[in-house]
Amino acid sequence: MYGKYWISPETTSINRLPMLNMEHLHSISLDGPWRFQLLDRADASPAASWNIENVPSLWTINKGEHHYKDAPIYTNTQMPFDNLPPSVPLHNPTGIYERDFTIPDTWQNKRIVLSLGGFESVAVVTINNKDVGMAKDSHLASEFEITSYIKKGNNSIRLRIIKWSDATFIEDQDQWWHGGISRSIKLFATEHVFIERLYLTPGLLPDNKTGTLKIRAYINSINEAPLANWTFQARIVGVSKVQKMSQTFISHNRTLWTKKTREQKEITDSEFHGKYWDGNVPDQVKKVLLELDPPNPGYAEFEVKVANISPWSAESPTLYEVEIQLLDPSGKVAEISTKKIGFRDVKVVGNEFLFNGKPVILYGINRHDFNRETGRVLTRDMFRNDLLELKRWNFNAIRTSHYPNDPVFLDLCDELGFYVIGEANIESHAFLDSICDDQKYLVAFVDRVSRMVERDIHHPSVIFWSLGNESGFGLNHLAAAAFVRKFDSSRPLHYEGGIRGNWTHGQEVTDVICPMYPNISAIVSYAKSKKADRPLIMCEYSHAMGNSNGTLAEYWEAIHSTKGLQGGFIWEFWDHGIDQKLPDGRIRSAYGGDFGEVKHDGNFCCDGMFFPDRTPKPALFEMKHIASPVLISAKNANTGRFTLLNKNFFVDLQGYELGWAIAANGEILDRGIAKIPKTKARGAASITVSSKYLKVASRKGESFITFTLNQKGPNSWAPANFEVAWAQFPLASKSATKAKALTTKPTEFVTAEGEIVLPFGVIAPQLTLWRAPTDNDIIGLFADRWNEWGIRDLSRTDCVITNKAGKIKISNIWESATGIKIKHSQLVESIANGVRVTESITLPAQLNDVARVGTNFEVSEDLHKLTWFGVGPSENYPDRKLGRVHKWAGAVADQYIPYVKPQENGSHADVRWFTLTNSSGHGIHFILDKPRQVTVTPMRSIDLANATHNIDVYPSGNTVVTIDAALRGLGTASCGPDTLAKYRIKPGVFTWQWSAETI
Ligand code: GAL
Repeated sequence: MYGKYWISPETTSINRLPMLNMEHLHSISLDGPWRFQLLDRADASPAASWNIENVPSLWTINKGEHHYKDAPIYTNTQMPFDNLPPSVPLHNPTGIYERDFTIPDTWQNKRIVLSLGGFESVAVVTINNKDVGMAKDSHLASEFEITSYIKKGNNSIRLRIIKWSDATFIEDQDQWWHGGISRSIKLFATEHVFIERLYLTPGLLPDNKTGTLKIRAYINSINEAPLANWTFQARIVGVSKVQKMSQTFISHNRTLWTKKTREQKEITDSEFHGKYWDGNVPDQVKKVLLELDPPNPGYAEFEVKVANISPWSAESPTLYEVEIQLLDPSGKVAEISTKKIGFRDVKVVGNEFLFNGKPVILYGINRHDFNRETGRVLTRDMFRNDLLELKRWNFNAIRTSHYPNDPVFLDLCDELGFYVIGEANIESHAFLDSICDDQKYLVAFVDRVSRMVERDIHHPSVIFWSLGNESGFGLNHLAAAAFVRKFDSSRPLHYEGGIRGNWTHGQEVTDVICPMYPNISAIVSYAKSKKADRPLIMCEYSHAMGNSNGTLAEYWEAIHSTKGLQGGFIWEFWDHGIDQKLPDGRIRSAYGGDFGEVKHDGNFCCDGMFFPDRTPKPALFEMKHIASPVLISAKNANTGRFTLLNKNFFVDLQGYELGWAIAANGEILDRGIAKIPKTKARGAASITVSSKYLKVASRKGESFITFTLNQKGPNSWAPANFEVAWAQFPLASKSATKAKALTTKPTEFVTAEGEIVLPFGVIAPQLTLWRAPTDNDIIGLFADRWNEWGIRDLSRTDCVITNKAGKIKISNIWESATGIKIKHSQLVESIANGVRVTESITLPAQLNDVARVGTNFEVSEDLHKLTWFGVGPSENYPDRKLGRVHKWAGAVADQYIPYVKPQENGSHADVRWFTLTNSSGHGIHFILDKPRQVTVTPMRSIDLANATHNIDVYPSGNTVVTIDAALRGLGTASCGPDTLAKYRIKPGVFTWQWSAETI
C-alpha cells in the first residue's frame, strides 16, 4: 500500500484527521494484550506465529529484558545509521500488532474514530483487512475516522509500526532510539454531526481581574449529514454574567454573483473596487455583504469578557472549566465536553517577558519522557510524581524537550502550576544545515508545529511555542512560525536555532533570546547591551551530567540582578539509564554501547538532576535554595534584625511559617518562630528574632542563626511543615582555642620510613593531586592533561626526616608517572590525644590546573560513621556549595554518591572539623586549620575511575579520607562552560594543617 511512504517526507500522513484535542463521552481503550511479531523490513509480511505484548509498550525494552532482536540504541547528534535523508536502512525493525475488538451495540449509528497516542516512528492502520491510513510524528496522537471500516460485532485491527523512516531524521533528539507504541490507543464515538476541533484562548486584561476567552469551534459531519439548525454553545462553569456563547447554524444560501439587485451590486462593487481601501467599511455595506454571502455553517467563534476572575499563574494556578455542548435541531444534547482553562496574559515587551504584567523568573528544567523500565511509556501517576518532585525542589518551569508530551502532562502542569515551553517534535541535528531548507520536509515542519499548537492551545501553563530543537534555521522554520503567529497570537515564539551564533538575529522565529550553555559573562553582556531587543531565557544551561552543575549560584546572581535575564532551563531532569539485566542477574543502569550498539554516545544520556530511579542528585539542593520563594538578608544578625523579600510575583507569604534556630559548634541552643508580617508579592518586610543566645558571651564556638521557611499546612504538592527555603547567617563568635602543641616529640606518629601513623590507620597520609575524573573533567579534556602529567600515580622518590624542637619534619619529593617532581613537607607535632600535621607543597608551574591538592589516607572500616561540622547535608564542591553549616552526621557508606558512570563524589565543603567513629563511639576527631573540603567514603578514587558502571564499584574495605587544601570546581564542561577561574587550581605554594585526636 501507498508505495515507499516511510521514505517519503512529503507524505506526513494519509487519511489522518486534523489534530483533535477533545475528550468525548463514548470511548473504549484498546490498551492491553495485542498479538505481536517483529519483522526486519518495513514491507515484510507477517509470519503465522505471534507473541502477546502489552500496548502501550516498546519492543526494544521490557523491564530490563529484551525478547526481540532489536535493542535500544543511544546516539546524540549522529544518526544511528549512515544513510542520507530520507533513505533508511533496508534492515528496518517493524512491529506488527493485531487484536480483535467489539463495538458496543450503542455505537451502531455513530461516527467512530481511532486514536493512536504515540508510536515510533510510522504507523499504518488496517481494519478488517482494509487499509485505513498512515501517520508519522512520534509524539502527538494520530486519529483516523474508521466508521465505514467497522462491522457489527467482532472487528480486527492491525498496526504496522516501522522504526526507521524519513521522520527519523527530524526526531534525532539525543535520547534512546526505541521502536513500538509509547502511548495509549483508544476508540471514541460521536454522532454523525460532531464537534471536530475546539480552540480556547483565555487571556487577562491589565486590571488582572478581567479574563477574556476566545472560543473557536469547528463542527463537522460525515455521510453528508446537514449542519443546519445544529447549535454549538459554551459556558464557563460557575461564572455568571458572561455574554451568551451560542450559535445555531443556518443553511448556506449564497446569492449568485449574477443575480444581485442593482442596489446590492452597487454596494458590493464599491467595496470590491477599493472604495474602503483603508478598511473602514460602513456597517450598512457589511450587512449587505453578509446577507449575500452568509458564513458556512459549522464554524462558531465567540470572544467574551469575564469579570472578577482569579488569574492563573504557576504560583496560584486557578483553573476554570469551560463546558461545551452541541445540540441537535430538536435541542437534544448530542455532545458535551469540558476543558480546563486559566486566565492569564503572556507577552514580550522590549527586553522583558511579562506574565500577567510581571517579569517572572523561570526556574526551569528540561524534561524528556523517560522511564528506566518502560523506555518512555508513562502513566498519569508517573507524570504526577515527576511534577510533584519538581515543585518540591522549587522549579516553576519545564521545557518539554524536545517534543510535545502526553496531553495529561500539560493538564497536570495547569493544575499544579508550571510555566511550560511547549516544543514541537523536530530535531534534525545530524542534518542541521540542510533539512530545514529542504522543501521535502516543509510539510512535516509545519505539520508538527501546527498540530502541537492546535492540540495544546487552551493550556494556561504553555507560555511559549518552541519550533523544535537544534534543526538549524531555514525556510521550513519561517513557514511554521508564520502559521503559529497567525493561529495563536496569544503566545510568543521560542526557537534557539534562530539566534544560534548571533543573538541579534532570528526575530522571525523567536521572541526570546534562548541560547544554550552560554557563559555568564555573555548573558550579562547581552542584557546590558543596547542591542538587547528581547528577553533572555536560557533554553538549556548547567549540564547535569554526572557530578556537575558547578557555578549555578553565579548564573543566578547574574539573573537575579540583571533586567532582561529571566532564568533558564537546566539540562535535564533524568539520567536516562535503562535497567539492564546482566547474565549474572544483576541489574545495571545501561547507557550508550551497553546493548552492543556500534555507533553510540556512551553515557552522555546520563545528564539529569535525578538518577534513573528518580532519586534526587545532590545538585538539586543548590537549585532549590536558589529558586526559593524568599530571600532573607541580615540587617544586623547579632541583634536579630533581618529583612525578608517575597520573591513571588503573585502571592503573599501567608501559607508559610518561618522558624529560626541559633546553634554554636553545631549544637542548637535556642529556636523559635519569627512572625512574618503581611508581605505582598515582591514586597519586603522586617523580621526580628529575640533570644539571649544572640549575645556572644552566651555561647562557645562558631555560631549561626538559621531560618527555615516551612509550609504551614499541606498543599497540592507537599505536606504540612515541608521546608521550602532556608537562610543562614554567621553570628559573632569567639574563636575556639587551638590545641596546644606538646613538647614531646611525636615519634610514635612517624615511622622510620617517614610515614605518619594515625589511630585506626591503614594507609598513611599521602599527597594527592588527582580525583576520579568527572564527566566534565573528561569531556572538558582536563583529565587528559592530568594523564599527560601523570598525576594519577604519584610515587614518593625521596624522604628526609629531620627533628626540630618537639617536632618532626618529613620532607618528601613526589614524582608523577611522567617524571614531574613535586616538593612536599609534613611537619608533625604532638597535641593532647593526638597529632597535628602541617603540610606544604610547591605546585610546579607546569601543573597548571590539577584536580586537587590534598592529603589522602585510609583508616579502618570500623570507623563507619561520619560527623562533620561544615556545609551539608548533601555533597558539595567549591563551586556548588550552597548549604547550611551545621553538625551533620551519616554513615560513611552513605556519603558515596552512585553516579551512573562512577566518578569523583561525596565531598563536603567548608568542613571545620569531623569525626570518624565506630559502633561504640570511639574513633578520631579531626580539626582543620580553616574550613576545607573533606571527602569520606568507602571508595577509592582509582576504583571509581576504573569502573564504567556504578554496580561495578566496590568498597575498598577501609574508610577513605581526603582533606583538600584545594579542590577544583565542577563546572559544566561536558556541555557548557568550565568552572570559573577562581575555582581552578593555579601553581604555587599550598599550606594546610589538620590534627587528629583519638576519641
Ligand atoms: C543540547 C541538546 C540536548 C542535549 C544537550 C546535551 O545541545 O539540545 O538535546 O543533547 O545538548 O546533553
